[in-house]
Formats: sequence, C-alpha cells, structure tokens
Amino acid sequence: MKKIIILFSGTGTNLLNLIEKLHGRELEVAAAITNRPDAGGIAKARVKGIHVDIIDHKDFESRETFDGVLVDKIKSYPYDLVVMAGFMRILTPHFTDNIRAINLHPSLLPKFKGAQAIERSFESSDKEGGVSVHWVSGELDGGEVVAQESFVKAAGESIESFSEKIRRIEYDLLPRTIVELLKGTTKNDE
Ligand code: GAR
Repeated sequence: MKKIIILFSGTGTNLLNLIEKLHGRELEVAAAITNRPDAGGIAKARVKGIHVDIIDHKDFESRETFDGVLVDKIKSYPYDLVVMAGFMRILTPHFTDNIRAINLHPSLLPKFKGAQAIERSFESSDKEGGVSVHWVSGELDGGEVVAQESFVKAAGESIESFSEKIRRIEYDLLPRTIVELLKGTTKNDE
C-alpha cells in the first residue's frame, strides 16, 4: 500500500478527513507532523491511531534549521508523497529541494497566494472562489497546479457560506487528487 505523510498546523479537519477517507483503504498514513504543540489536529489523528510528531518551530533559531529537522523526520519514514493540509510555514530550499510534496490552498491559484486567502478571495470582485492542490516549489504557493475546483459566488453570500463551500470542496478534492497522483492518473511530473 502506498504511504503518505501529512503536515498540518491547526484544527486539522482536512487531516481527519484524509485519515477517515483514505487510511487503511486507498493508502496508509505513515505519520502526521505538526509545527504547533497546540494544534487541534494532534488529538484528531492520535484518536485514529496515527502517529503524530511535534516539531515546534519556536525551538529553532532559523527557518533553515527547522526545515532541516523536518526533512530528517520525514525521511525517517517510508513514504510516497508528503501532503500539506493546513501547514502554515514558509519553506526554505532545505525543504523544497529535498521533499516532493503537494499543498492544499483555499483559492484559485495563482490568485490569492499566501495567508488569509479565503478572506481576500471573498472580498475581491472575483465572481468565483475555489480550491487548488499544487506541487510545493521554492515559490510560496507558486508550484504547478495539480487540481483545481471553482464555484460561483452567490449574490449577497456571507463569508461563512463562502468558507463552507471551500471546505466542502477541500474535503472532496484533496483525497481524490492524492489517490489519482499515487495511481499516476493525474499530472505527476512536478
Ligand atoms: C484549509 O482551508 C487549507 O486550505 C488552508 O488551511 C486550512 C486548514 O484547515 N491552507 C492554507 O491556507 C495554506 N496556505 P484544517 O486545519 O481544518 O484542515
């Protein structure tokens, strides 16, 4: 069975969704790794029997040293793909040159790279919102897009409704894209 490692920083609802939909079925979640000791996703993964490593970025003097330890930890597991699901770190070449990873981002890239993507996309004059899954590269949210799904903003839509649509797409698009990538049926050329 193919193996993935999931990186996360926060609530971990995408992490939980991946575990529930894929673990022991389509693939094995070899481990989950977080940079935040208070991340809600830690308990969600552990209750499902997934091993979680905590590497607190605050314990490191530089992004490079943190990334070095993160890369070593990832490489200590057998894995086929690293998946970032709400992993909120700017990565250095120590990571991006060494690890083949995809990232989930809540906008139609190349629009709204970086933080607060949902809010910025909601407040923009764009008629659509959406979700992207892309290869992680040296440029923040700039790697090649693997999969994307959009929806039309409803007239007078609230931010809550807009965010909910994004979540629903994320919970479907990310697991589907991972399965397709591991089967080699989607853009796998990085
Ligand atoms: C998701 O919406 C994901 O797209 C976003 O963080 C959220 C994590 O939620 N990622 C980014 O903004 C990356 N720049 P979760 O912790 O509930 O899965």
